[in-house]
Amino acid sequence: MKIAFYPKKPQKSDIARLQLSGQKDSFVFVSQTGEKILSLGIGPKDKINLRKFITLGRKIIFFAKKNRIKKIFINLDDFDFPGFDLSPYEKARTLAENFEMANFEFVKYKTNDSDRIFVKEIFVGGDISRDIKDGFEHGQIVGSMINGARDLSNTHGGAMTPKVLSREAQLIGKKNRRIKVRILDKNKMAKLKMGGILGVSKGSCQDPYFIIMEYFNGKKNEQPAVLVGKGVTFDSGGINLKPDEYCMDMHMDMSGGSCVMHALEAAAKLKIKKNIVALVPCAENMPSGSSYRPGDILKTMSGITVEVANTDAEGRILLADALTYAKKYNPKIVIDVATLTGAAAVALGQRACAVLSPEKKLSDLLVCLGEKSGDFLWPLPLWEEFEEDIKGDFADISNSHKTRYGGAIIGATFLHKFAKDLNWAHIDISPRITSIEGDYLAKGSCGAGVRLLTRFLEKCD
Ligand code: BES
Ligand code: ZN
Ligand code: ZN
Repeated sequence: MKIAFYPKKPQKSDIARLQLSGQKDSFVFVSQTGEKILSLGIGPKDKINLRKFITLGRKIIFFAKKNRIKKIFINLDDFDFPGFDLSPYEKARTLAENFEMANFEFVKYKTNDSDRIFVKEIFVGGDISRDIKDGFEHGQIVGSMINGARDLSNTHGGAMTPKVLSREAQLIGKKNRRIKVRILDKNKMAKLKMGGILGVSKGSCQDPYFIIMEYFNGKKNEQPAVLVGKGVTFDSGGINLKPDEYCMDMHMDMSGGSCVMHALEAAAKLKIKKNIVALVPCAENMPSGSSYRPGDILKTMSGITVEVANTDAEGRILLADALTYAKKYNPKIVIDVATLTGAAAVALGQRACAVLSPEKKLSDLLVCLGEKSGDFLWPLPLWEEFEEDIKGDFADISNSHKTRYGGAIIGATFLHKFAKDLNWAHIDISPRITSIEGDYLAKGSCGAGVRLLTRFLEKCD
């Protein structure tokens, strides 16, 4: 989508003018002067808050696409609402991020042109400052990174294998000369004693890979921020096979991985002056004669042994090795992002992701940036007492707990064992694995976490 700046609307008949109305209904009409007007009902203007503003950008695009409008003129002055205070930069950035998000459709496998309806150009009028231009530019960068993550997450498991995901990381590296990408194959992982990743992947014909992306644009000896993303390209549950419909979205179980890969790319495009690393352990979780079994004991890279109580709790086992690998960097912060537990969605619903961290300051910052960015987070506790629930009978720890309760906390408690001496936070993005009605986004992945992590990388010190 192109965004162009014009103080006044260009006199072209194919450009529709956006009008924000305080009514509920939206419609398109032609004015007496022959001008096409897209009237968007946004309800009482004094009730606009940041959460509503975040979806406003999407509603514009959603409605334009529905009416097959390709070019829109918006006047930025119309986006000042009584009692709603947001800097010009933030206003522009939020609009641009959400324009891009709403203009995305996963059409790679659609053969009909009628499925490819997009807004082509937005003309922005009003008093345009440098800040506003920057806001739009940065918002478009972040928006396109979110859509890049969605593209990977939406690609079905048969076409998005650990190998393909690794190749995607290499492609990102090819496009950005500051990003260095290395891929570890299973032999290299065996040398590093990554028994967790190797164990989980045993049942699949697809080999596991470990993606390492480095973007070093900070001071020479500055400790990096390390992002870790779960890269399970399909999660069948393994021998503890998931029941029918629960398998359906599990090609998106690498959404944490696609998120961190694109947050790092966004950092490079925004030229953030920091050292940043993204790690993605990639594997497919399948049932077969060679699968890891319930009862098996795996030795992770850390040396900690794990009793497999449930082969469907595979993500935490992969992440255990990645968190251990992260320590090689002596990181100042480690954040992992994962579709770790269905329980996170049971706890929170589908509008916020869960954040768990022993570091209150870090968790508070993430919640605050979540609120700003639109990637909403809600904290869950991570008390020491929960460690009782993952004690192993024959190994050090178990990958699942004995009760039905608090699954998201138990998952994080498991990860915490491997992050003891790190400044670490875990984000469970399962609740936002797909868009929901009212998001004004295409079906499928919504690229959860990319906006949040990008903001975090800009902010953290
Ligand atoms: N990938 C799933 C979690 C998931 C489910 C994410 C639905 C998004 C939507 C994860 O690997 C899993 O299966 N977790 C189990 C853990 C349990 C066996 C302890 C779960 O949540 O049921
Ligand atoms: Zn699973
Ligand atoms: Zn999983």
